[in-house]
Amino acid sequence: MLHRATTPIPADQGPALERPPVHLGLARRPRRNRKAEWARRLVRENVLTADDLIWPMFLVDGERRRDPVASMPGVYRFSVDEAVRAARRAFELEIPAVALFPYTDAALRDEGGSEAFNAENLVCRACRAIKAALPNLGVITDVALDPYTSHGHDGLLHGEEVLNDASVSALVDQALNQARAGADIVAPSDMMDGRVGAIRSALDDAGFDAVQIMSYAAKYASAFYGPFRDAIGTSAALRGDKRTYQMDIANGAEALREVALDIAEGADMIMVKPGLPYLDIVYRVKMEFGMPTFAYQVSGEYAMIAGAAANGWIDGRKAMLESLIAFKRAGADGILTYFAIEAAEHLRAG
Ligand code: PBG
Repeated sequence: MLHRATTPIPADQGPALERPPVHLGLARRPRRNRKAEWARRLVRENVLTADDLIWPMFLVDGERRRDPVASMPGVYRFSVDEAVRAARRAFELEIPAVALFPYTDAALRDEGGSEAFNAENLVCRACRAIKAALPNLGVITDVALDPYTSHGHDGLLHGEEVLNDASVSALVDQALNQARAGADIVAPSDMMDGRVGAIRSALDDAGFDAVQIMSYAAKYASAFYGPFRDAIGTSAALRGDKRTYQMDIANGAEALREVALDIAEGADMIMVKPGLPYLDIVYRVKMEFGMPTFAYQVSGEYAMIAGAAANGWIDGRKAMLESLIAFKRAGADGILTYFAIEAAEHLRAG
């Protein structure tokens, strides 16, 4: 990509040469540094590499399954055997880590999300299989109850209320279950208060002091999660919305306070989510804390680009790469993106 020559503009002997130029007397002409591809490369401030990518993968029970997700063209739910195959592709492309999300059958969901604590659940089985086949690929597991609860919330519901402290106790058990399955990074995406600290001390007590925590520190109550909820089967289940725990979309300073708390509680890396609509937050968080900062280009963002591209309304590849470099420009150290494989393949092809 970086080495492609500038497309020559066809010579035009018309109005451009007939019109007398204005005498600007400019000492500074920013266009000089853009005059050719080599010149642009020389002054380019940010680059995207496979090292910047984390690939979120959806899982489904069964064997030899690759079920397409209707609202995310090009995205599949993988059975464990296929997930290992797909993860191998990610590893070959030098993507450092994958993040696992399970589609859970309605029959396995209950009020308390008990499947989250089952050592044989889909995520644990996939985690063990991927780590056995690819010990040098990072595996990230999502800590939140929504794939497992009959009401679709990330925590425990009492009447209309999503309880905080009781939910944290459940999330701690879920994180321990994932650590025992070999998760390298646990990523709490639930937005309960105090969960990072509780998970950190429980992991340490159980001897998992090397397991990292990537906290979804500033996660907004966003409309852009719609396709993800289809992919993991919670759309129909979700009772109400998540606005009592995910952040108000109108707030910026509050994100800094959320991030500060998670850092104080022991988060190794922090995340902002969604991605592009919240680049101001990514920028402020990176500036303020200088922590390893990640952005999640979520399902709805993916669907907008992939959907428009499928209709021929935008150049999908260019829009994908533009969206990803935007995260780097804003200061992100990495991006969780459903485009990870496609982007890494493109970067490799050059
Ligand atoms: C749930 C979770 C969500 C996502 C990641 N973890 C959805 C939600 O909060 O409802 C969204 C990811 C995406 O949209 O791609 N804990």
